[in-house]
Amino acid sequence: MCALLALSSFAFTPSNSALGGPNPIMTPSIVVDASSSNVSITGTHCDFLNSTGSTFAATLVFCPINATSPSTISYTFNGTGVDIFGSASSNTSFNYTLDGSSGQQVAVNAAQAGSSLWSIADLPEGNHTLALIPTSGNLTLDYFLSTPSNDTILDGVDLLYDDTDESMEYHGTWPFFVPPSTVVGTPLNTTLHETRTKGDGIFFRFVGSHIAIYGALNQKAGNLSTMFDVDREEPQTLQIFDGTQEVKEDQWEFNHLLFEQDVDPGEHVLTLVVEEVTGDQAFYLDYIVTRGINITMLESPQSDFSQKFPEPTASSYIGIMMVGAMALAIIACLIKSKLTSRQIQRRAGKGLLPPMKV
Ligand SMILES: *[C@@H]1O[C@H](CO)[C@@H](O)[C@H](O)[C@H]1NC(C)=O
Ligand SMILES: *[C@@H]1O[C@H](CO)[C@@H](O)[C@H](O)[C@H]1NC(C)=O
Ligand SMILES: *[C@@H]1O[C@H](CO)[C@@H](O)[C@H](O)[C@H]1NC(C)=O
Ligand SMILES: *[C@@H]1O[C@H](CO)[C@@H](O)[C@H](O)[C@H]1NC(C)=O
Ligand SMILES: *[C@@H]1O[C@H](CO)[C@@H](O)[C@H](O)[C@H]1NC(C)=O
Ligand SMILES: *[C@@H]1O[C@H](CO)[C@@H](O)[C@H](O)[C@H]1NC(C)=O
Ligand SMILES: *[C@@H]1O[C@H](CO)[C@@H](O)[C@H](O)[C@H]1NC(C)=O
Ligand SMILES: *[C@@H]1O[C@H](CO)[C@@H](O)[C@H](O)[C@H]1NC(C)=O
Ligand SMILES: *[C@@H]1O[C@H](CO)[C@@H](O)[C@H](O)[C@H]1NC(C)=O
Ligand SMILES: *[C@@H]1O[C@H](CO)[C@@H](O)[C@H](O)[C@H]1NC(C)=O
Ligand SMILES: *[C@@H]1O[C@H](CO)[C@@H](O)[C@H](O)[C@H]1NC(C)=O
Ligand SMILES: *[C@@H]1O[C@H](CO)[C@@H](O)[C@H](O)[C@H]1NC(C)=O
Repeated sequence: MCALLALSSFAFTPSNSALGGPNPIMTPSIVVDASSSNVSITGTHCDFLNSTGSTFAATLVFCPINATSPSTISYTFNGTGVDIFGSASSNTSFNYTLDGSSGQQVAVNAAQAGSSLWSIADLPEGNHTLALIPTSGNLTLDYFLSTPSNDTILDGVDLLYDDTDESMEYHGTWPFFVPPSTVVGTPLNTTLHETRTKGDGIFFRFVGSHIAIYGALNQKAGNLSTMFDVDREEPQTLQIFDGTQEVKEDQWEFNHLLFEQDVDPGEHVLTLVVEEVTGDQAFYLDYIVTRGINITMLESPQSDFSQKFPEPTASSYIGIMMVGAMALAIIACLIKSKLTSRQIQRRAGKGLLPPMKV
């Protein structure tokens, strides 16, 4: 009996499913939307576009080439590198200067929406200013991701944690997922985490004043609804698909804001639980963005699932119907074999990898 219960509790043991994907990323990036005031644009040839989907903050900056009076797009950041996301027509290139260095020409491969267009890394720590001058083709900018260093001030800054980040605590089976190449658009850094199981969830600890969860939507048949909750105070259910959507299997939307909430500045834990997933539907997590405060560190707060989310509560929270006797049995088993089952879980943890998706 206890062995069976221990086994069933595997599903709710934190598992870093990044093990199935690329190397886990330990620290967040700073995200800045290209149309925010942090990006300065000179010249008159860039247009600010409001777009309906698949772009971060639902905006784009479209900079077609104008050879006679080029525009300059500048972004100042504190850290060691920066990555530019957006899209580019064929034969797009730009010149860049870094900290006023003499210009260098860069050719951008034709890239579909949401791609990383160009990046620079391993810069010395400190303030840097990158300026882009489009020289051919059409450059469309969505957002900048910069790599902070330990002394970068994080107060008031938006920190982005990719789905592969170590600080995501996945509960249940969350295969690592890369959309097929036929799909128009791409998730952040190409990866998503997917689940098709009701009751699967995510715990995410952060120190900040705001949190936003971004995912991908695929217009398949079926229902999809998810519960979001900060500090277990006010669960909110979001019905993402209610079965009335037009079925278009190839239709994806990326950078979709699923949930956001202002929170009191401090340490918090977000809980996400998939409540309904039917038909061909699946839930896809892409990234989480939090707003830093004066005590936010690059390292995420220590997670201690077992202490903060006792197993029986967590299970009923996750929607598993449990009769009192069963719950009591579990508590008894947990008390009796806490150490053993933890050891089992730890040993089995790495073997219990979610299946790789092609
Ligand atoms: C962007 O600008 C706002 C307001 O000026 C500032 O608080 C914030 O720190 C800036 N973000 C970054 C990443 O520089
Ligand atoms: C985009 O949306 C913002 C805010 O809703 C609005 O102020 C702005 O005028 C819009 N821009 C365009 C080009 O539609
Ligand atoms: C380039 O900019 C100049 C000055 O603003 C303008 O007169 C010209 O029409 C623009 N050319 C194109 C191709 O947009
Ligand atoms: C760039 O954008 C302009 C205006 O939308 C369009 O006419 C032109 O064909 C585009 N160029 C390329 C190479 O896509
Ligand atoms: C871009 O750089 C090339 C080579 O460094 C230079 O010849 C060209 O004038 C630059 N173009 C602009 C618009 O700055
Ligand atoms: C930027 O980096 C430098 C050197 O790493 C650091 O001394 C400084 O405090 C940082 N400034 C901000 C605004 O983050
Ligand atoms: C970096 O930039 C910040 C904000 O602009 C400024 O306060 C700080 O003095 C700069 N640090 C250095 C080392 O230039
Ligand atoms: C690409 O852009 C360059 C510079 O504007 C231009 O000379 C060249 O003809 C373009 N090539 C194509 C295939 O459009
Ligand atoms: C940043 O801080 C973390 C822990 O506080 C430390 O492990 C890491 O080595 C530091 N990185 C640098 C570049 O100093
Ligand atoms: C994107 O993925 C690469 C490779 O896995 C990783 O090195 C990089 O840090 C990731 N970027 C972000 C913003 O997570
Ligand atoms: C999907 O949701 C709708 C609205 O909540 C409900 O009427 C319908 O029965 C659900 N379908 C399935 C297959 O659960
Ligand atoms: C952070 O800000 C709060 C108020 O906004 C202040 O009470 C606290 O002393 C600050 N902490 C640090 C470490 O600066």
